Amino acid sequence: MTATSSVLGATDREDAARVLARCDELGALSSRPDALERVHLSGEHAAANALVAGWLRAAGATSTHVDQAGNVRGRLEGREPGLPALVLGSHLDTVPDAGRYDGPLGVVLAVEVLARLARAQTEDGLEMPCALEVVGFGDEEGVRFATALLGSRALAGSWDETWWDGLVDAGGTSLRAAAEAFGLDPARVGEAALRPEQVVGYLETHIEQGPLLEEADLPLGVVTGIAGARRFRVTVVGEARHAGGTPWDRRRDALTGAAEVVLAVEREARAAGAVATTGWARVEPGALNVIPGRVELGVDLRAETDALRDATWDAVLLAAQATCAARALTLEVEEVHCAPAVACAPRLADAVAAGITAVTGEPAPRRLPSWAGHDAMAVAGLTDVGMLFVRCAGGISHAPGESVRGDDVALALDAFEAAVLAVVSQVG
Ligand code: GLV
Ligand code: MN
Ligand code: MN
Repeated sequence: MTATSSVLGATDREDAARVLARCDELGALSSRPDALERVHLSGEHAAANALVAGWLRAAGATSTHVDQAGNVRGRLEGREPGLPALVLGSHLDTVPDAGRYDGPLGVVLAVEVLARLARAQTEDGLEMPCALEVVGFGDEEGVRFATALLGSRALAGSWDETWWDGLVDAGGTSLRAAAEAFGLDPARVGEAALRPEQVVGYLETHIEQGPLLEEADLPLGVVTGIAGARRFRVTVVGEARHAGGTPWDRRRDALTGAAEVVLAVEREARAAGAVATTGWARVEPGALNVIPGRVELGVDLRAETDALRDATWDAVLLAAQATCAARALTLEVEEVHCAPAVACAPRLADAVAAGITAVTGEPAPRRLPSWAGHDAMAVAGLTDVGMLFVRCAGGISHAPGESVRGDDVALALDAFEAAVLAVVSQVG
């Protein structure tokens, strides 16, 4: 097995170079020539699945398949077939104009760990008391259908059947139609689910997407938990009328009302110690000489506890209702995503910490919460979860400037492997 010392060897650097090259290969699978965008159930998603399945086969996976939710999966059997699995994964979808590492880095590192353990089985006689399963989730970001974590919810068995026809993308395609066009059978989505007795835990590696590790001059960190999130489609309805001929006292301008809602989102979240973002706005009819009659906003809200998150939303809602009442506007609110805050399991956080200690020599690795959402949030409904964070330059993520250092990736790979072996040894 690969040495896990604090000094990186030539093999570690070669492995890290391959990981980065694979992130580049995935980064080239985009629906846009000018930027990276790869959404759920798209042609690029199918191409990414095929690439990852090929890497899994080359790594020595006993079997690979794309499940009925569109996740690509590879399994390495343990000392006998059919044992419960330690699941490793992250996601293959991206935000619009994305970086190359949010999601793919975790998938590619998981493939590498599978390769190392497969090699250790054949070359060193490693006997694993559990199987290993690697998953490239098809949807974590929720960009196409506004509801996030579709892939990991299918795996966790928390699929909601109303999604098939209820979720519709911006082009009017339902999730059902998109899945069928992808070659999936919606009636069989339950086959993607694992049962609690089939798993021993879940580990995910991800870039930090924040600046804390870099500020502390640390390559790696242990995630303590993931902030709770809610997302809403907020619609402000007024009346579209002539921009010149309509006097002030006759106007019901949906955009000025929506602007106050956007400011309330920021004000209330700041005051509460939460974070909230109005990430998109659609103005109708969208002409310079027409008073906006309807505005749709997409609002994302996160907080360390569900109670704080929910109290913040209640305050936003009160402010939005008051604004709309004062301006004779109608307010419609639809919740499109709700994920509870999740604590990482101490036994898995300790395994991740042990992995970091093994490769960096740092006796007490930095522990930090994740303000970003991850597939681990959904998988936590199925089994214990743990996460390893990798420093990213400037804390930049969800932007093309995402970047990681080769040496950090090499350390992350060794630490992830060591964490996986620590969990495997808990099983045996
Ligand atoms: C996923 O990246 C999220 O936190 O929005
Ligand atoms: Mn993301
Ligand atoms: Mn991510």
